[in-house]
Amino acid sequence: KKIIAFQTEFLEWYERTRRDLPWRENSDPYRVWVSEIMLQQTQVVTVIPYFYRFMEWFPTIADLAEAEEDKLLKAWEGLGYYSRVRNMQKAAQQLVEAHNGKMPHTIEEISELKGIGPYTAGAISSIAFGLPEPAIDGNVMRVFSRLFELESDIAKPSSRKVFDHVVRQVMPHHDPSSFNQAIMDLGATVCTPKAPNCESCPLAGYCQSYEKGTMLNFPVKSKK
Ligand code: ADE
Repeated sequence: KKIIAFQTEFLEWYERTRRDLPWRENSDPYRVWVSEIMLQQTQVVTVIPYFYRFMEWFPTIADLAEAEEDKLLKAWEGLGYYSRVRNMQKAAQQLVEAHNGKMPHTIEEISELKGIGPYTAGAISSIAFGLPEPAIDGNVMRVFSRLFELESDIAKPSSRKVFDHVVRQVMPHHDPSSFNQAIMDLGATVCTPKAPNCESCPLAGYCQSYEKGTMLNFPVKSKK
């Protein structure tokens, strides 16, 4: 009842406001994978030109598996954290050897690939294959901690299962891809860390911390 309205309003907001990003043109798992790896430590505006060039240079998983090291590192120059692209190549080789050069369709198999942690596995599963899997990163934890006044310390690895549980309870099974990307967009553009723009938030009517004015107390994050 209330969850259905929440989902419907949120997905409508996403359709109205979603950004046309190159990796949203289609749901090709390879494109989703490359974009999610690039976006891990790098902002959307910076990633866009790198993403186009990467797809031009390495159009398929097989091309990535066989790429020369110089060209691979050149494609990443300026993005930093070169282990990301080295791991991607190793994973591409795993895919060629064990999966016919294609991304497998289960989160368990996707999670076995080099460099793919729980966030990326959830993002690929939901965005490329429509599986009802959360994709939990810092933005998602911020949004959900505010929505439900969740006090779990996001600096603790054990908090992830708390967020996983809550996200699963509100995620629509008919469109996990849009739902996860809507959360990402909300966290990037509205539910920002220091100055959330609650006036333009599609979820304000469902947000426990907005109701109480406690938005800035969330997420809880211990120093370590
Ligand atoms: N940040 C991480 N993943 C993203 C995506 N798929 N779209 C926009 N921003 C993102």
